[in-house]
Amino acid sequence: MSVTVEVVSHSSTELFNALRRLVPQLSSSAAPLTLSALDNLLMEDSSTLVVAKDDDEIIGTLTLVVFSIPTGLRAIVEDVIVDNASRGKGVGEQLVAFALRCAKERGAKTVDLTSRSSREAANALYQKMGFVLRETNVYRFFLEDS
Ligand SMILES: CC(C)(COP(=O)(O)OP(=O)(O)OC[C@H]1O[C@@H](n2cnc3c(N)ncnc32)[C@H](O)[C@@H]1OP(=O)(O)O)[C@@H](O)C(=O)NCCC(=O)NCCS
Repeated sequence: MSVTVEVVSHSSTELFNALRRLVPQLSSSAAPLTLSALDNLLMEDSSTLVVAKDDDEIIGTLTLVVFSIPTGLRAIVEDVIVDNASRGKGVGEQLVAFALRCAKERGAKTVDLTSRSSREAANALYQKMGFVLRETNVYRFFLEDS
C-alpha cells in the first residue's frame, strides 16, 4: 500500500464517485453529494478538501476549514472518513497529520473537531494525535426545521 495525501482543487468523476462512496460510511442521514455541491465546496476559500490515495484510488478524505474570528485564525476538521477496506493501516493518521500541517502553515491558532463517544476508532485516533478533550457544550440549531 502506497498512500499519498493531497489537497484537491479540481472536480473529477473519480473524486465525485469516491465521495459518494465514502460519505455514507460516515453518515447515513447526509443527503447524497451532488456535483454542484462538490463544485461549491471546491470554490470555497475557507474549506480545503483533502484526500488520501492508494496509487490512484481515493481511499479517504477530510475537510479542513480555516476561518478568522475576533479571537484569531481558527481551524476545524470535518468529515474524516477512511474507506472500510483501508482502515487500520494508518491512513486516518496520515490525513489528520496533513490537516494539522496545513492549519499550522496557514497560521491557525487551534484546530477543533467533534466526535461522538460511540465513534471509538475516531476518538482514539484524535487522542493519539494529541487532540485534548475540551469541556464545552456543542449546540446545533436546525434552520431547515424552524
Ligand atoms: C476513524 C477512522 C477515520 C480511522 O481511520 P483509520 O485509517 O482506520 O485509522 P488509522 O489506521 O490511521 O489508526 C490510527 C489510530 O486510530 C486508532 N484506531 C483506529 N482504528 C481503531 C479501532 N477500530 N479501534 C480503536 N482505535 C482505533 C488507534 O489509536 C490507531 O493507532 P494504532 O494503530 O497505533 O493503534 C475510520 O475508522 C473511519 O473512517 N471511520 C468511519 C467514519 C468516522 O467515524 N469518522 C470520524 C468522524 S468524527
